[in-house]
Order: sequence, then C-alpha cells, then structure tokens
Amino acid sequence: MSAFALDGYLHARRHIVENALQESLNVSTPPVDGRVGQAMEYSLMAGGKRLRPILCMAACEAVGGQPDSVLKAACALEMIHTYSLVHDDLPAMDDDDFRRGRLTCHKAFDEATAVLAGDALLTSAFHLLSMEDTFPADLALDVIRMIAKASGSFGMIEGQMRDIEAEGKVLDLSALRALHGLKTGALICASVEAGAVLGGATPTQRAALKSYADKIGLAFQVADDILNVEGDPALMGKGVGTDAEHDKATYPSLMGLAESKAYAADLVKDALNALNDFGERAEPLKSLALYVIQRQR
Ligand code: IPE
Ligand code: IPE
Ligand code: MG
Ligand code: MG
Repeated sequence: MSAFALDGYLHARRHIVENALQESLNVSTPPVDGRVGQAMEYSLMAGGKRLRPILCMAACEAVGGQPDSVLKAACALEMIHTYSLVHDDLPAMDDDDFRRGRLTCHKAFDEATAVLAGDALLTSAFHLLSMEDTFPADLALDVIRMIAKASGSFGMIEGQMRDIEAEGKVLDLSALRALHGLKTGALICASVEAGAVLGGATPTQRAALKSYADKIGLAFQVADDILNVEGDPALMGKGVGTDAEHDKATYPSLMGLAESKAYAADLVKDALNALNDFGERAEPLKSLALYVIQRQR
C-alpha cells in the first residue's frame, strides 16, 4: 500500500464521528435521562469501529467533496447500524451477551428496552436525515431513499431473515453470497454511495464507487465470519465461536478458512481496481479496503 497513514486517519475520523454522534443524540432522541434515551446512548456510544460513517466521509472526499459536510448522513448510518446490532443480539435472534466490549443492550437494560432503543435509533436516523438544514432537499431525498432501501426488506432486513432461515442448512455459494450482500453489504454500499452523492459525484464516479463498495461490503462479512472462528474476543469486544454454536451459514463453514481468506483478498483486489480512475483523493478508500480484511476486531 502507499504511504497513506491509515491509523492516524482512522483515529482522527473516529474522533470527529464520536463528537457528531453525541451531538446527534441530543437533537434526535428523547432526553437521555429517560430510559430509552439511556439505552440508545449506551449502545451508540460504546465505541464501534465507525466504519460506515468513515466510508461515507471517505467517499465524499474521493469525489472532491468536503467530508465534514456529510457528517449527519454519517451519523444516521451509524445509528442504523447500531440499531441492527441491538436487535441482532436479542435472544430471539443471535442471543449474544457482549457487544462492543460491554454487555449487550438487552442484558444491560432488558429486552423490551432493547427493542425500543433499536426502533428509536432507526427512526432517529431518518429524523436526522430529513432535517431541513441537513442537505439540499433533492440530494436528501435521493440519500434517504437509498439508505431506506438498503436497510429494509430489500436489504439488511431480508439478509437477517435469510441468515436465520439458513441456520442448520447448507447453502450453496451463490445463496450465501446473496445473503451476505443483503445482510451487511447493502448498508456498507449505501454508506459509500451516500458520501459520493452528497460529495457531488458524477454518474461514472458513483458507479465506480458502488462497484468498490459491493466488493468491500461482501469482504467485510466474510472477514466477520473468519473472525468469529479465529478472532480474539478480548480485541473484538464480542463472543467468538457463536456462528458454529448456532449452525450459521458462513464462508468458513462452506469453503474452509484458507479459501475464505483467499476469497476476501480477491474481493478487495477487485475493489481496488474499481478505484483506478481516482487519484490521490481515493487513498483513504484504498487503505480502508485493505483494513476491512486485515482488521482484528
Ligand atoms: C458487526 O459490524 C456486524 C456486521 C455487520 C458484520 P462491525 O464489525 O462494523 O461492528 P462495530 O460497529 O465495529 O461494533
Ligand atoms: C450482524 O451479523 C449483521 C447485522 C446486524 C445486520 P452477524 O450476526 O453475523 O454479526 P455479529 O457477529 O453478531 O457482529
Ligand atoms: Mg446475526
Ligand atoms: Mg450476531
């Protein structure tokens, strides 16, 4: 990779995102002294990697936009992602006890509160996106439609449904690829595309960035499956071995660890190729593609 210093970039961007998330909680949620507000803050401010907001800002940067100008969209994406984790961890779904290094929301509060906190994070995200001063109305509408589609029954929700239906079954590779693309790829793709649109991307740039995002979105979930087998729970802040316990359909279970790693690396190579026509401004996106499969958490 180039001399681009990803660690410093991630650190700086996370700091900006954390501050903006805290601020967005103040405008789009009930007072944090109420129970649902506390649960939202508990899960949202638990310190995830903030990959989706960082990708959104980096895509904006890649087309010559000002990354700070997309912060509200970046926060909305992180709220939607966090809601999906809160619900994913519920007993009726993956039944997990740890997330982002702390007890899961339903363990720290209770199931009803976790359901409501998830619902509120999702709706607050769209509240934030639709606020008058967030973006010009035509761009806001495009982005809201795109993010809603990626999060709902055409995207993440359908992926979550297929993930549950696949428990105990052996899927073929194309069905697993489709599942992963919906469950995780769709929101990652929407994060990149939102940054591109708001940054003023041309249709050609938007298509190239979408192709990049499709590849890293899938690679991200393949890496998540690999980490669930051989990751360090202390670094990851969540349980490992849980996919096997639930007999989940994953890449390692279908093609083995070594093949899964090779597949993820191929996807990233394709993602990098999609950025060929972008200059220096796409260095962060290039480094982020490698980070997606090299990360330890
Ligand atoms: C975990 O997402 C769930 C998946 C979609 C694979 P992340 O690995 O991005 O989780 P955080 O945001 O860093 O906690
Ligand atoms: C979570 O997927 C994906 C969403 C919440 C949409 P997983 O269930 O595979 O991820 P982890 O391992 O719990 O983070
Ligand atoms: Mg799950
Ligand atoms: Mg899970």
